[in-house]
Amino acid sequence: MKHAKLKDFPDNFLWGASTSAYQVEGAWNEDGKGPSVIDMANHTEGVTDFKVTSDHYHHYKEDISLMAEMGFKTYRFSIAWTRIYPTGSGELNPKGIEFYNNLIDELIDKGIEPLVTMYHFDLPYALQEKGGWSNRETVDAFENYARTLFENFGDRVKYWLTINEQNMMILHGDAIGTVDPNLENPKKELYQQNHHMLVAQAKAMNLCHQMLPGAKIGPAPNIANIYPASSSPEDMIAADNYAAIRNWLYLDMAVYGRYNTIAWNYMEEKGYIPVIQEGDMEILKSAKPDFIAFNYYTSQTVEASRDNGEEAGHTGDQQISVGEPGVYKGAKNPNLKVNEFGWEIDPVGFRTTFRQIYDRYQLPLIVTENGLGAFDKLEEGDIINDSYRIDYLRQHIEQIKLAITDGVEVFGYCPWSAIDLVSTHQGSSKRYGFIYVNRDEFDLKDLRRIRKQSFYWYKDVIATNGANL
Ligand code: BG6
Repeated sequence: MKHAKLKDFPDNFLWGASTSAYQVEGAWNEDGKGPSVIDMANHTEGVTDFKVTSDHYHHYKEDISLMAEMGFKTYRFSIAWTRIYPTGSGELNPKGIEFYNNLIDELIDKGIEPLVTMYHFDLPYALQEKGGWSNRETVDAFENYARTLFENFGDRVKYWLTINEQNMMILHGDAIGTVDPNLENPKKELYQQNHHMLVAQAKAMNLCHQMLPGAKIGPAPNIANIYPASSSPEDMIAADNYAAIRNWLYLDMAVYGRYNTIAWNYMEEKGYIPVIQEGDMEILKSAKPDFIAFNYYTSQTVEASRDNGEEAGHTGDQQISVGEPGVYKGAKNPNLKVNEFGWEIDPVGFRTTFRQIYDRYQLPLIVTENGLGAFDKLEEGDIINDSYRIDYLRQHIEQIKLAITDGVEVFGYCPWSAIDLVSTHQGSSKRYGFIYVNRDEFDLKDLRRIRKQSFYWYKDVIATNGANL
C-alpha cells in the first residue's frame, strides 16, 4: 500500500540501542563472576575471545554518558547470569548485584530507561556441566535467577526481555557457540532444550507479573519474513515450513501457549518431540507477554528441498539459512544486495516482518536489534566515516515509519549496537556501534571511545523524533 501521508513516530518512542553482557563487558572473571558457556567454548580461529571485549565493565559511566549525549531514551543490555549466580544457582554474588545496581542507577540518572535482557546466550557453565537446558533443573535455576533480578532491580527496571534469540540458539547454535558439540542426537536434544526454555520463559513472565505489577515483559526472538524463491507452490510450502520452524513456533508459544501446528508436525516427523511434563502446557498457556521484542537483520529466502542431501551439514548462521532435507532449502534472493559478511540487506522485508508479527499477535512491538556489521576504518583525526551504516539504518527506520502508518503499534527501536563489541563468531573487527572502541582483534590498544559519523546522525534522528533521517 502506498500511503499519501506518513504517520509520525509516537511521542515517548523509545529510541536507543543494544548490547549484550558477554560481548561488551569484558571482566570475564572479575568480582566473583563465574564462567559461562561462552567463556569455556572454543572460539573461532583468527578472532578474539570474550575476555576483555570493550571493557564496558570498567567504562560503563563513560559509555552511558556517550549514550546520553546521543539522546538515548532507552538502553537495552543483558545481565550476565554468572555475575549474579557464579554457578547458576546457589550462592548469590553481591558484587554482581552491585555492578548492575550502579549501571541501572547511572542510566536512570541520565534519563535513560533500562531495558534488560535476562539471558543472552551466556548460560552459566556450572549448569552446562549438569546438562544445561537439557536438564529440567535449569528451568528452576532460571526461575530462581529471574526472582532475584525482579527483587533487586524491579524497583527501577520497567521493561524486561526473557531470552535473547532462543530460536537462533536452537537453529544455529553451532555458529553462536551455544550448542554443546558433544550432544549425541543434537536436534532431538535441542528441541527438548527448547521446550525447557519455553517453560522457563513462561514462568519468568508469570513471576514478573506477580512481583512487579507495573513492569512489562516479553520475548526477544530473531524474526524475519520468509520469501519463497519463486512463485512455485512447492517453494511456498517450503517458505511456510521455515516460517513455522524459525519464527512462529517461538511466538505462538510465547503469546498463545501452544505449539505451532506445522512446527509440531515437523518435530513429530523428524522424531524431535520433547518430553512434556504434566502441567507444562498449563504453565505455557497461563503466561502472557506484554509486548513482543524482536531482532531483525535481514529477510530469508527458501525453496523446496530437493531432498538430495544438499541441505545437510552445517547450519549457516543467524542470517544465512542452509536448509533441512525434505523441509526447505536456503536460497539467495536476487533482489537484494549483501553486506561484507554475506548477509542480505532488506529494509522492505523489515516492514513486512512488522506487519506479519502484528497481524498474528496484536501486541506492541519493539525492535531490540537491527544493524550493519562492517570493517570500519579509523582515519586520521579520529574520524570514522560509516556512511554505509547510516544508509542501512536510515532505510530501516523509514520502513518502521511505513509500518506505523500501516497501523502497527511500535514503541521503540534499539539497533545493534550502542557501542562496538565482539561479534558472536566474527571477532571485534566486525563492528556495529555508533561508538568506536579503539582495539584490534588481538591488540587491545587504549580501548578509547570515539564518536563515529553515525553517532552524530543518530543523535539528530532522536532529537527530531525520527523526522530528520
Ligand atoms: C544476534 C545476536 O544474533 O545478532 C547478537 O543477538 C549478535 O548477540 C548479532 O551480535 C549480530 O551477529 P554477529 O554474528 O554479527 O555478532
